[in-house]
Amino acid sequence: MTYGGYNYLDLKYKTKETDFKVLIYASGEFKLEKLAEAIASESSVGTWTKISTMNKKVFTEYKARVYKLIKVTDNSGFIFIAYPYEHFDAKNILQFQASVMGNLFGLKELYDLYIMDISFPIKYQKQFKGPKFGINGIRKYLGTTKSRRPHTGTIVKPKVGLTPKEFANVAYKAWSNGLDLVKDDENLVDQKFCRWKDRFDEVMKALNRAEKITGEKKLYATNITDSDIDRMKDRVDYVYENGGKMVMMDVYVMGMPALCSMVNYVHNLGLIIHAHRAGYSAHQRGNFGVNFQVYEKFYRMIGVDQLHIGTGVGKMEGSPMLIKRFHDVAVKHNGKEKLYLGSLDFKFAKHIKPIFPVTSGGVNPGMVDNLVALHGKDIIIQAGGGVHGHPKGTAAGARALRYAVDSVNKGIPLLKAAKKNKDLKLALDKFGYTEPSGIRKIFKFEKENKDLLNHLIDKDGMQTYRMITEHFSIG
Ligand code: 3PG
Repeated sequence: MTYGGYNYLDLKYKTKETDFKVLIYASGEFKLEKLAEAIASESSVGTWTKISTMNKKVFTEYKARVYKLIKVTDNSGFIFIAYPYEHFDAKNILQFQASVMGNLFGLKELYDLYIMDISFPIKYQKQFKGPKFGINGIRKYLGTTKSRRPHTGTIVKPKVGLTPKEFANVAYKAWSNGLDLVKDDENLVDQKFCRWKDRFDEVMKALNRAEKITGEKKLYATNITDSDIDRMKDRVDYVYENGGKMVMMDVYVMGMPALCSMVNYVHNLGLIIHAHRAGYSAHQRGNFGVNFQVYEKFYRMIGVDQLHIGTGVGKMEGSPMLIKRFHDVAVKHNGKEKLYLGSLDFKFAKHIKPIFPVTSGGVNPGMVDNLVALHGKDIIIQAGGGVHGHPKGTAAGARALRYAVDSVNKGIPLLKAAKKNKDLKLALDKFGYTEPSGIRKIFKFEKENKDLLNHLIDKDGMQTYRMITEHFSIG
């Protein structure tokens, strides 16, 4: 079978260490083999017809090769494609995106096209510096290297609208009552009612006061995201000159070039980077998209230090199994292929440090047992509504979250802890308690049934993948 006059199927091909490997789910109007050829062609050297300008060198050295197919039906299934290193302008992420994540999405013969995962060769990763701080650097700054407890944080709410003084007052209550991190929300930057600089000045006064009374270091993730790079750089300079230690960026909406420049700029000044992923899911929830783990790998290689990865139990999409995979991509150096999660083997170059995953979105103190069962302790547990929605307000909400984390860190289950702490009790009364046995059952089931899960994927394709990665639960 050919597409545009050329053949891209090479099922005997043994992938090389320098190849980029891509796992795609596709369905469409042709047989799977031809769909795979179309995808490989359009994303590498081909087009819809035979061309007089093609030559042997181009075709053998630069084309993509379909090296494995898992058929679900005649017209749908999983496609594994290898791209030779030489195909790419490897220093340039946009050229990579335009190839592998580009034109192919517009092919009209496709009904589904979902890039599930990409495996980046170590040779490619060497160009990236990776995180400057990562998990251990941030722990060192906050003084949690020994306790290894989860970090706690809040997003000031309402998302937008508070004045700088009102905002700083909320931040002070959160820090002075135990939280480590306060952050701007993704859509707050420099609006008229809360100018960035005024807010930063007020919040830094609050941070200094909170550090003094608690004896703990505190972090403020100030949102510097802007369509103008110079404005972002000015803000970073201001943070650096005025005692800040962290900046936040909306890494998906700002795009790769801005992110790459800003990461270098921020790290050169010795500041930590908090990454919010707002917007990415427009790209991953439908029939056409790119799974977050692809972006996550990019963000870790480029060098953000902490990154939102969803919750598994809160308001954001993603089953515990999928969110655990995202956690692993953030914190581990190697991981195994899990077809039922649409995941390839991964291997990070040694110098690419682990990043701190942030669980955020619908989180409240009653979920802490659950979140630790899912992520372990290398996690930032961040709650907006779950802190400011406490019946007694932000201060009590912050105390409840910190008490919950300290208790679970010592192995004391939340329900027991709540008997000794009225803030936590009130939080549980309002938000409820989500106990962790469901999460543990899911991971036990996963461990014991990997073959079954893969078999179901072979049989039903995307429908089962969606069930496992979106709605999976065990009663
Ligand atoms: C975030 O930035 O992750 C959200 O604003 C979280 O807000 P929430 O804790 O109120 O859901």
